[in-house]
Amino acid sequence: MPGITIVGAGSHVPGPPVPNAALTRVMDTDAEWIRKRTGIDQRHFAPEGVGCSDLAVEASRNALRSAGIAAEEVDYIVFATMTPDYLFPGSGGLMGAKLGIPGVPALDIRQQCAAMPFGLQVADGLVAAGVAETVLLVGAEAHAGFMPWDDWELLYGESDGKAEAGAYDRATRHRGLAVLFGDGAGALVLRRHPLAGHGLIDSLVHSDGNLANLIYIEGGGFRRRPYWSPQMFEEEWHIPRMEGRELFKHAVTKLPSVVRELCRRANVALEDVDQFVPHQANDRINNAVRQALRVPPEKVAGNIARYGNTSGATIPILMDELMREGRVREGDLLCFLALGSGLHWGAALMRL
Ligand code: ACO
Repeated sequence: MPGITIVGAGSHVPGPPVPNAALTRVMDTDAEWIRKRTGIDQRHFAPEGVGCSDLAVEASRNALRSAGIAAEEVDYIVFATMTPDYLFPGSGGLMGAKLGIPGVPALDIRQQCAAMPFGLQVADGLVAAGVAETVLLVGAEAHAGFMPWDDWELLYGESDGKAEAGAYDRATRHRGLAVLFGDGAGALVLRRHPLAGHGLIDSLVHSDGNLANLIYIEGGGFRRRPYWSPQMFEEEWHIPRMEGRELFKHAVTKLPSVVRELCRRANVALEDVDQFVPHQANDRINNAVRQALRVPPEKVAGNIARYGNTSGATIPILMDELMREGRVREGDLLCFLALGSGLHWGAALMRL
């Protein structure tokens, strides 16, 4: 039985681009350092009051338009974010209501940057089980809320004052994390492919909670009484903690390994993959993965320079660009791959 395929894709990023140089107004960093170490030139941030469900609804409308499908035809939403509008409820139902389809089931998944291989697997299962015919898989993030500076006017160059010393030091303490992330949303409209041998061929995902400490948020968890306090804020528990180097090592070993394992299982030669569509965490990670798999650069798509790491949204934003620019076509074999906080990681093979 053929698996799901992408019948439409859409994306949306908020506000004007924030170039690396703008970050030097609020912390001790260097535009060139960011570009060389990550491949990022700029990112976008959601304005105050705009949540991931707001970004997601724009991306979803674009995806539905590209598919030529009315919102009412969607019969399941799978929604991925690590920066939800509220601790609960999840943002999927909020987005469904904003899209004008209240009542449609919305499943929130929490695999952070690894959301897409998991989301594709879940969506394929829903379709195979006969539960849904048209699934809207969305990744959306509003990381702006955990950025370690307060003075957004200074960041945007709307005020020409100087950062207050304490605020500047605090942002600098978190610079390794803060320069990586950007906000945005991407959406994929998924339906079963009509032809045998097409659609999602196979997917393979893994999780290991032993490695949760490599990137996580300490504050706001319900194992504490109360779950949130002013002291936690003072101790900066709202800002993710990240062991960048360790994460890097796990990404450059686990991703090639899961891609190989999946291709072996699906009986697909690596050379037969037309396009790798990786999560965008760092260009250096994707280059190392590419070299480990001995894949030529033109087969590995990337757009981190313009958006930074939009976590759960990177792959659908990238797919939207690849489809609009005609860089992927009917019949192409795609390999999606991603690793994120959890740790969760995985890959998926799809013939369009
Ligand atoms: N600007 C200037 N200098 C900096 C910055 C910055 N923004 N950040 C760190 N530095 C300095 C450090 O202080 C250090 O200086 P020192 O040598 O004098 O001590 C030096 O640069 C090297 O720092 P490292 O942290 O070792 O740099 P590294 O080359 O490892 O790059 C990075 C850091 C970009 C974070 C990298 O480790 C990385 O990309 N890791 C993976 C991160 C990742 O994938 N995150 C997403 C996780 S997925 C999810 O689910 C959210």
